[in-house]
Amino acid sequence: MFFVLLFLLPLSATAQPYRNVTLGSSITANNKNSTWLSPSEEFAFGFQQIIRGGYLLAIWFNKIPERTIVWSANRDNLVQEGSKVQLFADGRFELSDIRGGFKWTAAATSRDGVAYGAMLDTGNFVLANSSSGAL
Ligand SMILES: *[C@@H]1O[C@H](CO)[C@@H](O)[C@H](O)[C@H]1NC(C)=O
Ligand SMILES: *[C@@H]1O[C@H](CO)[C@@H](O)[C@H](O)[C@H]1NC(C)=O
Ligand SMILES: *[C@@H]1O[C@H](CO)[C@@H](O)[C@H](O)[C@H]1NC(C)=O
Repeated sequence: MFFVLLFLLPLSATAQPYRNVTLGSSITANNKNSTWLSPSEEFAFGFQQIIRGGYLLAIWFNKIPERTIVWSANRDNLVQEGSKVQLFADGRFELSDIRGGFKWTAAATSRDGVAYGAMLDTGNFVLANSSSGAL
């Protein structure tokens, strides 16, 4: 137990407090502030610039030097700078290209009960209801 605590301390010292992704939140593809982290910061959700002006909405391993992508919404359709992914108040979770050229929507079984979004340490980004059930 002692060993585990010593091992964890340096990590938590630099960690920002984890927060659920609240309804209405969005991230914009612009290379500045584009990530939602899992509690351990092992995984990140956001935009990765793949080519100049071309972005992938993705989940990647955040703690290894080579930021390996594990999932992406628009693998064959890079979106432009300024494009946005948003969790709307009505539970829709959508990526829309700034020029309207590409759109991706998360397939939730029910949109009604969505209370928040969360990047989990399992590598899954989930939409959850108020009792933390994954939708
Ligand atoms: C995330 O939201 C759920 C449900 O409202 C809540 O139980 C949980 O404490 C929240 N977690 C954080 C870190 O805010
Ligand atoms: C990114 O920046 C915009 C504008 O400053 C802000 O509204 C948004 O909350 C930021 N997103 C994150 C994930 O920090
Ligand atoms: C939340 O979702 C779970 C399924 O993941 C369901 O069993 C539960 O009843 C839901 N709770 C509410 C309050 O809707």
